[in-house]
Order: sequence, then C-alpha cells, then structure tokens
Amino acid sequence: MEGEGRLIGSEPQPADIYAPAELRPRTLEEFSAGGRIKADLVRQLGVMLKAARARSEPLEHILLAGPPGLGKTTLAYVIAEELGSRLIATSGPVLERTGDLVSILTSLERGDVLFIDEVHRLSRPVEETLYPAMEDFRVDVVIGQGPGARTVRLELEPFTLIGATTRSGLLTGPMRSRFGHTFHFSPYTPEELAVIIRRAARVLELAISDQAVEALARRGRGTPRIAIRLLKRVRDWVQVEGKPQAEEEDVDRALTLAGVDEHGLDRMDRRILETIVEKFEGGPVGLDTLAAALGEERDTLSEVYEPYLIQMGFIKRTPRGRVATRRAFELLGLPPPPSIGGEPGLFDETGEG
Ligand SMILES: Nc1ncnc2c1ncn2[C@@H]1O[C@H](COP(=O)(O)OP(=O)(O)OP(=O)(O)O)[C@@H](O)[C@H]1O
Ligand SMILES: [Mg+2]
Repeated sequence: MEGEGRLIGSEPQPADIYAPAELRPRTLEEFSAGGRIKADLVRQLGVMLKAARARSEPLEHILLAGPPGLGKTTLAYVIAEELGSRLIATSGPVLERTGDLVSILTSLERGDVLFIDEVHRLSRPVEETLYPAMEDFRVDVVIGQGPGARTVRLELEPFTLIGATTRSGLLTGPMRSRFGHTFHFSPYTPEELAVIIRRAARVLELAISDQAVEALARRGRGTPRIAIRLLKRVRDWVQVEGKPQAEEEDVDRALTLAGVDEHGLDRMDRRILETIVEKFEGGPVGLDTLAAALGEERDTLSEVYEPYLIQMGFIKRTPRGRVATRRAFELLGLPPPPSIGGEPGLFDETGEG
C-alpha cells in the first residue's frame, strides 16, 4: 500500500540512499545545469540571493511547494550553500512540542537556514510559536504553571526559514503569508530530466547513448528521483549483460523486466486504467467506488497514483467521477466509446461521461 517500494514511486525509498552524494547538485549553477533546468525558478532565486547578499541581510523566508521527488530538499541545501550558511534540518511531524521548536530557534546563529520539511504538518501550537519567530525574530516562552506562570520573550538571531511541502493547500493562511516567496515545483520536462540523467550517469560511471537517455527521460514521470532510480536499474542490467554502454534496447528490457512501460506506467497504473475502462466502461466512476474495486485506499489512489495519470492525459477528474480518456483506451488497445470520439456502436453508450 501507499505505493511503497514502487520502482516509479515518487516518495523516497531506502535504496535511494545507495547513491553517491555527488548526485545531489550543491550550487545553483549545478542545480540548473547552466540554466537548462528550472530556468525561471533559478533566475528568480538568483536575484533574491544576490540582493540579500548585497544588503548583508538574511534571505527572506522561502516556501518550496510541489510533489515529492522534484528537488525541494535539494534546493534548500543549495540555498544554504549559496548563502555560505549552516542548514539546520527538521520537519513538521518531528517538532511535536513547542519546546522542541524553541530549543532549535534559540540555538540558531545569525544567517542560519532553518529547513522545515513537511511544514504543513506542524501542530497548531508549534505553528503559532513560529509566527513571531518568522516575523520579528522573537519567541514568547511560558515559564511555570498556573497563577505563577509568566511569559518570557526571547530574542532570536535573524535566520531564514525554508519550508517544504507536498501539500501547499493544507498550509494555513497565516503560515503562508509569512513566507517572503513561494516557489512552486512542477514536473520536469523530458529535456530537463535528460540533463539530470546524463549527469547522474557520469557520476555513476555508466556509459549511455543519447537514445537511451531520452528513453529514460520519457519514463521518468517528470521526477528526478524516479529518473535516477530507473537509471540505476538500467545500470544493473548493463552490468549483468556485460555491455560497454547502455543502449535504448537496454532501457526497454531492463524496465520492462521491472514492469515499467514506455510511458513510465507500472502494473498498478495500468490496472487502474483497465478497471475504469473495463469495469466502469470508461467512467465516470467515483473515487470511493474505484478504490473499492481496486482494493486500494482512497487517499493513496488520489495522491499517489492519479496525479501522473492525469498529467499524462490518461484520466480526467470530473464532478461526476474519474473518466478514462481516449488516450487510455488507445493505450489498452481498445476502441474509444463514441462519447469521447470513438466510432458509434463500438461501445455501450452507458459509459458516456
Ligand atoms: N535539479 C536537479 N538536478 C539533479 N538532481 C536533482 C535535481 N533536483 C532533484 N534532484 C535529485 O532528485 C532526488 C530527489 O530530490 P529531493 O529529495 O530534493 O526531492 P524533494 O522534492 O525534497 O522530495 P520530497 O518531497 O519527497 O522530500 C535527489 O536524489 C536529487 O539529487
Ligand atoms: Mg524532501
């Protein structure tokens, strides 16, 4: 469940750490591979960094929002590196009590970067303690209990908070408004992924043809973490086959063996499409009904599996439920129903959506 252990899951997996640390870009220049990756974001961030440096002020608080595996954590470390600052990392669920946060905040030195991952998962009291820290670099701590309790104000060193979230919609308004800037990460284009794959292949000392890089980039689901993971499967394959260089056919074979097709879909993705198309005649089918038919949890379905299927145009979310698109029918080698542009009579009309 949770799509854990999926070769194409975008969440981090234990095996991901068996990668050389050099895979992670350290500077903005490396992150953007000379302006070829996330050019707009990198340019904007570059200006903010320069301005902060010129004013000798800490950088404004920054929110990094977007799906897993797109480089939010990586960019947080890059920013600290560019500022020549320390990065202190923690996360929403780890900061259980306000005391946990206060002890971190009071230990910060001028210009430090505090990185809070999953910032949408902070408890309300912890979040409220964070507000004045972000705004005025101070915290109010309650000492003692009952009638004798008193509030002590602690001054903090100016710092930069970098928050990361996969669910920016869950962030409260007050929290969101305290960030000077939000960077939204969208999936990478195949061209961007190709740049990352080439670089990773060099680090992993794998010779790979251009066609093989492109084939991998097409299956990387717009996600560097997945692209790098798939590259490692190809490297294993080439190693075992004793080949001097990875070719497109090696990508095909290695990933077909791993159950990943030419669109980057795995068995579960295809099972979802087959279920909508075959059991529900293309939809619309409600999320709960679909989840029950698949034996999956509703949230896992909508958060782990659906986004890529939607992004690739295989399914659509409609007010009446999920609908398979013409593209999904074509993928499964089935004639699309008339309602979505197929020939009349080939499909039962009840499946219209
Ligand atoms: N611009 C990039 N260039 C090269 N590699 C990248 C880039 N962005 C991300 N990566 C690689 O992708 C992987 C995932 O990145 P990262 O852990 O930063 O993602 P994330 O957005 O923080 O994910 P999560 O939401 O799960 O925490 C890392 O191995 C990182 O090296
Ligand atoms: Mg992360």
